[in-house]
Amino acid sequence: MPVVRGKKIEPLYTAEQIAERNRQLAAEIASGPCEDLLVISVLKGSFIFAADLIRSLHDAGLAPEVEFITLSSYGTGTVSQGVRIIKDIDSDVHGRNVLLIDDILESGRTLLFAKTLMYERGARNVSIAVLLDKKVKRKEVFEADYVGFECPDYFVVGYGMDVAYAFRELPFVGVVTGDAEGDA
Ligand code: IMP
Ligand code: MG
Repeated sequence: MPVVRGKKIEPLYTAEQIAERNRQLAAEIASGPCEDLLVISVLKGSFIFAADLIRSLHDAGLAPEVEFITLSSYGTGTVSQGVRIIKDIDSDVHGRNVLLIDDILESGRTLLFAKTLMYERGARNVSIAVLLDKKVKRKEVFEADYVGFECPDYFVVGYGMDVAYAFRELPFVGVVTGDAEGDA
């Protein structure tokens, strides 16, 4: 099992599984509303997934524009109460087909906020691609259009996802299972 920063990380989805799934997702996206497509990566967690998925979109024959938005949940402790924009996109989405890319769909608050925002700004169509869907954590009536994997209710790291800014560099998605030095 990989050990990083003294922690054992159990792989959940390998780099190869993710790469294959990205190719399939890109083909699905290419058969949806994608004329004059504007892709918006929801930072920070989606940066690696978005980087790979947009290259798969190229391979699938698409030539999207790419933008970034940084969103943050706020609230007391672990209870999320709302979402705010930390850094907005520069582009005008009016009349455009928009694809929002995020790492994980959990409560649905972040992506519901982002999707509503883009429609309020006059987007023609807004679709959602997420690498992981944790359905059991959903608090809103909300589904993604394109899902990489349905994820069990573990806190996952890697492939852009972090604990306190660490583990983003892992080429796979995994679960921190404990301290390496705890092993006999
Ligand atoms: P929600 O759908 O508004 O609850 O937002 C989910 C966001 O929380 C994701 O985009 C991630 O940034 C973060 N998140 C949720 N679960 C995890 C996890 O297991 N590992 C790392 N980040 C997570
Ligand atoms: Mg996120």
